[in-house]
Amino acid sequence: MNATENPTRTPRTPRHMRLLMCPPEHFDVTYSINPWMDPAKPVDTGLAVTQWQQLVAVYRDLGHTVELIEPLPGCPDMVYAANGATVVDGRVLGARFRNGQRAAEGPAYLRWFRDQGYRDTRDPVEINEGEGDFLLAGPYLLAGTGFRSARASHAEAQEFFGRPVIGLELVDPRFYHLDTALAVLAPDLVAYHPAAFSAGSRAVLERLFPEAVLASPQDADVFGLNAMSDGRHVVLPEAATGLASQLAERGFQPIGVDLSELLKGGGSVKCCTLELRDAR
Ligand code: ARG
Repeated sequence: MNATENPTRTPRTPRHMRLLMCPPEHFDVTYSINPWMDPAKPVDTGLAVTQWQQLVAVYRDLGHTVELIEPLPGCPDMVYAANGATVVDGRVLGARFRNGQRAAEGPAYLRWFRDQGYRDTRDPVEINEGEGDFLLAGPYLLAGTGFRSARASHAEAQEFFGRPVIGLELVDPRFYHLDTALAVLAPDLVAYHPAAFSAGSRAVLERLFPEAVLASPQDADVFGLNAMSDGRHVVLPEAATGLASQLAERGFQPIGVDLSELLKGGGSVKCCTLELRDAR
């Protein structure tokens, strides 16, 4: 590849990440709260655990720190740690779930943070599903709404974190959380699936991120945007091959993983990963 095909001449610099994850020991699909979940389809919990362990190994091989929270029986979706809270500057905004089936997870995650000594924590007033709908991109907290997190949670997050919150409207039920339709690659760069957003929100994204990577519908459909980037390495579902090439062209190093069992619950790489952004 020559320089004109690769506009990114400067090597991308990775940052060290501290991550919280929850083993899928109790993972199952016993109810349906998103279009991907079909309780009639069998789930192989053992395979889910193996695939999840491979994701943990990828993070650790990259030098990241992975902390674990104990999974609760009766909370089959608790493996999707991204939904457990939002942590910025060491401040923790707890989650409050839209669906009763996941209600117990919010307090369980908040308890973990308090047990770990986090002092600046907030019991949320408004419905918000953690980093499923809140993604930090440079100075902005990008915030999804439309299916899960309430619009009012955006104001609550802005007040709590003191960061400008950019509200984005999701319009396709298959992309019900922001992190299923948009990935933050670097502080000033995102990848997203335009069709998942309202026209106004697409215009906002174009204005904020004119260089954004636009994912194909095929890559979005295999949850390619449910990815974790450390600024250089992007861990994403291996089926998103087109997106992986787009990322490589931009100077990132894509790392594909297979989380097919966890896709049956409507989640993948990012859903299983909560970033612990400590105070600097
Ligand atoms: N079954 C879960 C739900 O519908 C999946 C959550 C996926 N998590 C995410 N961060 N998108 O709530």
